[in-house]
Amino acid sequence: MPTVSAVERQRDIYLQGLSGQMPLVPSDPLALERAAQKCMSPEAYAYVAGGAGRELTVQRNREAFKKWHIQPRMLRDVSSFDTSIELFGRRLPAPILLAPVGVLDLCHREADLAVGRATAQLGLPFIFSNQASVPMEEVSKVMGAGPRFFQLYWSKSYDLVASLVQRAEASGCEAIVVTLDTTMLGWRLRDLDMAYLPFLRGKGIAQYTSDPVFQQMLDMPEEEGLVSPKRRITLKTLQAVYQLMNNYPGSFFGNLRSGRPLRAVRQFINLYTKPSLNWDDLPFLREHTKLPIILKGIHHPEDARRAMDAGVDGLIISNHGGRQVDGAVSTIEMMPAIKQVVGDHFPLLLDSGVRTGADVFKALALGANAVCIGRPYTYGLAIAGEAGVSTVLQNLWADFELTMRLSGCARVEDVRKSKIGSGKSEVTRSH
Ligand code: FNR
Ligand code: LAC
Repeated sequence: MPTVSAVERQRDIYLQGLSGQMPLVPSDPLALERAAQKCMSPEAYAYVAGGAGRELTVQRNREAFKKWHIQPRMLRDVSSFDTSIELFGRRLPAPILLAPVGVLDLCHREADLAVGRATAQLGLPFIFSNQASVPMEEVSKVMGAGPRFFQLYWSKSYDLVASLVQRAEASGCEAIVVTLDTTMLGWRLRDLDMAYLPFLRGKGIAQYTSDPVFQQMLDMPEEEGLVSPKRRITLKTLQAVYQLMNNYPGSFFGNLRSGRPLRAVRQFINLYTKPSLNWDDLPFLREHTKLPIILKGIHHPEDARRAMDAGVDGLIISNHGGRQVDGAVSTIEMMPAIKQVVGDHFPLLLDSGVRTGADVFKALALGANAVCIGRPYTYGLAIAGEAGVSTVLQNLWADFELTMRLSGCARVEDVRKSKIGSGKSEVTRSH
């Protein structure tokens, strides 16, 4: 299993500094974001960095981590250590997964392929987005035996849901992550004010255009309601059409002649999500896959209890990185109450705002089995492609390893038993 030794990593970085070689990407999360911004178009950066409304939840996701403090213990031999965990029957080298992030070609032309290569090399799981820029089969191919999950957006078409899940199984995905919090896109001011949505340009719909059920539906005559009203044609329209033709599989002129890319976008918009999604839909998924089912987007303890009762296999406590409901509570704040409900043997992951090794430590000490990160790896991707993603992940991993060992924990199990404080209260988990 790949390992990253934090001490060696530090040493390499400092030694390279002696010969004037600077790190590929900044280790400071804010500097990382600023460096990535310089490599991205204003629309791409706005889409990735932005959140819903005034972005109070984006901020709260970060602020809430500060409320908790670690209480390091001394004189505990931490010379040998182990950051690995077991999750859904597989041993992973660190409690870090890559959250599903759509439209990665906004960051880098190699998009999901670069992320797939980087994660497979490190042995960390990559959760493929339903809105990926590259079909899951192609990413799986470059990942070899690297661990991967598939994230599903529950479409209005049950046939499409079944097809996506079946393809995920065939592509070697080891779990299905159903995202619940995006039955509609949140009210995102940065994107609205740029009037920019990547999907309309044919970006981020590769899982659909590569899907046989989706393609069959395209062969059917369009419903009248789907045909969009005539718009004034401007230079910008022509640019958008050019992008759309290029983003669709097949040749530019073939696509222009067939008109299929435009129909695909219209069909995508019509099918994208299912606002009526509810608990009664879950058995359909259970019938269509043997893989573990993980619900993503839950952050209320009662929903967590209901999910357990519904027989799902795990949860990702998430508010979508603050992109959906502005003013929503942060995930780390909800962790203790959720842990209390689900107990010690139910896989619990957390995302939204995880940036440092200390954040990972805190999430684990409060009861998470692992964390997912979103934006940070996309920033690494924007700056330096595969190597950038790998560096961001190795930095977080090394930071976690050092935080763990310097706090007197040799193993992740010790982190999960350790005491962390918040204001006057203290939480100790015992397993
Ligand atoms: C996302 N996220 C997301 N989630 C999901 O289930 N499917 C998706 O396609 C996407 N797409 C997406 C695009 C972009 C640009 C971002 C930033 C995020 C949410 C993602 O999985 C995760 O929940 C958050 O990114 C976690 O928060 P941080 O780490 O970005 O703060
Ligand atoms: C987003 C969608 C793709 O957050 O989940 O942008």
